[in-house]
Amino acid sequence: MADATVDTVTTVPVAIVGAGPAGLMLAHRLGRAGVETIALDTRTRHEIETTQRAGILEADVARDLVETGVSDRILRDGHEHEGVELRFGGRAHRIDFKDLVGESVWLYPQTDVFVDLADARERDGGTVHFGIKDTEVLDITTGSPRVRYTAPDGTRHEIRARYVVGADGSRSMCRGLVPEDRRVRFTKEYPFAWFGILTEAPMSAPELIYAHSEHGFALISRRSETVQRMYFQCDPDESVDAWPDDRVWETFQARVAGEDGFRLREGPIIEKTVLKFRSFVQEPMRWGSMALAGDAAHTVPPTGARGLNLALHDVKVLAEVLARALGSDGDAALDDYQPRALRRVWRAQNFSYWITQLLHTAPGSEPFDLQRQLGELDNVVGTRAGRTYLAEQYTGWPTRARA
Ligand code: PHB
Repeated sequence: MADATVDTVTTVPVAIVGAGPAGLMLAHRLGRAGVETIALDTRTRHEIETTQRAGILEADVARDLVETGVSDRILRDGHEHEGVELRFGGRAHRIDFKDLVGESVWLYPQTDVFVDLADARERDGGTVHFGIKDTEVLDITTGSPRVRYTAPDGTRHEIRARYVVGADGSRSMCRGLVPEDRRVRFTKEYPFAWFGILTEAPMSAPELIYAHSEHGFALISRRSETVQRMYFQCDPDESVDAWPDDRVWETFQARVAGEDGFRLREGPIIEKTVLKFRSFVQEPMRWGSMALAGDAAHTVPPTGARGLNLALHDVKVLAEVLARALGSDGDAALDDYQPRALRRVWRAQNFSYWITQLLHTAPGSEPFDLQRQLGELDNVVGTRAGRTYLAEQYTGWPTRARA
């Protein structure tokens, strides 16, 4: 394939494999620095726009969307949340982010972030090709890597770049290009998954609810005034067919039930999905002329809502480093990428793992395990230090106000 003739050859400083939020935000940031890019994705724009993902952005990420000129739609359509509720032992416990760490988070679905970025690329004249196939990344250990792909019309194209970025998500092809004997993969599997629904129902609470119960974990989030997003912990092999709406609602109600008589407001369920997850990191995050960013390099369980935030932090660092590398600094600038990105990756890995094990019930767990978890939850909500720890992790580790 590498020697096959191609229909066009284009030269650009940075080729980006993957045009999800990480790839497009990188293209946007590089565009602002005067660096041209071409971003590619095997999915169509419609496919990306309609795949439900998480919905919480750190305040810094929300500010960056506005301040870097992507869009200020988040200020109108997003919702600032100054805290979350932890429910356990049948009672509600609010974690007040604003009071504890002076920060908030924004409820703004990842699909909206993607739409804003894709629109911004179009507005700014950036090149993005969706729905391509047969991607090949070549010569990454040289100073002139190439990317070849087949366009939706069947024509074959080659991009000649100075750097290639693999932002191609959790099933990344690019990360497999780092030789096996030169890479390390850190993986943690979990014995549970999430059953996610979208329901046409009114909001049940003003803020997100993370519920621990003897029946397992549940999360109550939302998408709009009239559509709500919720998840409950399920078996990884669960089939959505075994879950008629009545059974789904019964499960949710049991997991949030408590002495305060709290009940979720029910409605027709318009989507049901089983979401598997794991913790994963591949090092190094850069190999020759290729860097990995976002889910391609690391994934986290969704519990702490870190995934998108972490991906956007990677590309913030990477955009700066690539702009320097293409300027007078050369390749040496790229050496800064992994150390600066990876520190946050492992902090987020720890938080995501910690909050996942804090709130989920492992199959086969004993009464001791449940009581110990309740003790830990009590430690978290029962002292200002515990609440502050949770608030700091959940709102991110801002690059400006707090070190
Ligand atoms: C969501 O709204 O989809 C969501 C929110 C918070 C999480 C995970 C998912 O931790």
